[in-house]
Amino acid sequence: MIKGLTDAERAAGARLMARLDAFAAFTDEPGRLTRLFLSDAHKRAAQAYIDWCAEAGLAARIDAAGNVVARYEGLTPGAPTLMLGSHIDTVRDAGRYDGNFGALAALAVVEELAARGERLDHAVEIVAFGDEEGVRWRTTLTGSRALAGDYPEDALDQKDKQGVYMRDALLAFGGDPEKVLALCAHPIAAFVELHIEQGPVLEAEGLPIGVVTAINGATRLEVGVDGLAGHAGATPMALRRDAFAAAAEMALAIEARARAEPDLVATIGRMELWPGATNVIPGHAQFSIDVRAPLDVRRDAAVADIEARIDAVARGRRVTATVARTHEAGAFTCDPGIVAGLTQAVGSLGVPVRLLPSGAGHDTMAIGRLCPAGMLFVRCKGGISHNPLESITVEDCATGLAALSRFVTEFRAG
Ligand code: GLV
Ligand code: MN
Ligand code: MN
Repeated sequence: MIKGLTDAERAAGARLMARLDAFAAFTDEPGRLTRLFLSDAHKRAAQAYIDWCAEAGLAARIDAAGNVVARYEGLTPGAPTLMLGSHIDTVRDAGRYDGNFGALAALAVVEELAARGERLDHAVEIVAFGDEEGVRWRTTLTGSRALAGDYPEDALDQKDKQGVYMRDALLAFGGDPEKVLALCAHPIAAFVELHIEQGPVLEAEGLPIGVVTAINGATRLEVGVDGLAGHAGATPMALRRDAFAAAAEMALAIEARARAEPDLVATIGRMELWPGATNVIPGHAQFSIDVRAPLDVRRDAAVADIEARIDAVARGRRVTATVARTHEAGAFTCDPGIVAGLTQAVGSLGVPVRLLPSGAGHDTMAIGRLCPAGMLFVRCKGGISHNPLESITVEDCATGLAALSRFVTEFRAG
């Protein structure tokens, strides 16, 4: 039981949990939560967010990059802006808290201020980012990168699996591909994101909340392996150039490289085979690799080794392999001033302050190029995330929201 929480903060946490449950209904796949960037479910979720903003008296809009943004003005028009937010796109078969928790918590903070009729010295801008997961197209973080003035120029020309260009989907969603490169429009004093931990540390230590110190860097690679398709019955094993067998050997080599070094992780989360028939030797394999590490030099070295291992396997098996880098995000250090402010907010709840790094990527690492930025983590059950089993308690939800609200009211733009 968190003694420092007020009754009003507990009630706000319960309202946020109820809203998170309702929000999970916006899905592209009945029976499970899948809300890919610029999909129909994303559009409906964005509209619900806009409607809730309107009920609180805020005019929200979809910006050029497909983010939902709204501004709660400070005491003086044009006051320095504190930005809060997280993402509302999800992975396939997702949990309901990754991203959504922070996006709806940002809204809840502003709703509480509006309900009390309270204006702060600074303005509060809230953002529901649209493209944190990078599942539908190969790029990721395009929403937050756009706001940071760092939009990846080739993003709009990518096609999804159905052949839909991001440019067309963005336009249909209400974004503006012509303006996205010039989106970084006004100065932001600071950015803060509330998120579930997505790992087991807080739960293991019996703590509801933590303050993030740094975010691991990430590289995403796309590998294509070309062998030779052939008859599964008529081609002797020694004469095959099986693209899948080569990809499988590459996968094990990649795993071995990552296992050899503490804190380095590498994941092959997607693999496709062509032509994809039981009686045909695969002629082509296509797979993704996600590599993360706390230090950029270690990640760079691992990626170079992985590329060399892919090359060696390809030569040994008489196949060709091409490797393309589709995403690169450097490790990010949270701003010491924001960490101090969040530490104070957590401490004011009577909770021991745990500082911890993030293994997962977040919009904060993109916005952090623009302004001082930091994050709060809330404990999640079993550390499970990217899974429908994702779960947080109502009290932890209230604790995270209260810490964020207290940080916002105490924040002073420097
Ligand atoms: C987002 O969840 C990521 O870290 O890939
Ligand atoms: Mn997330
Ligand atoms: Mn995620």
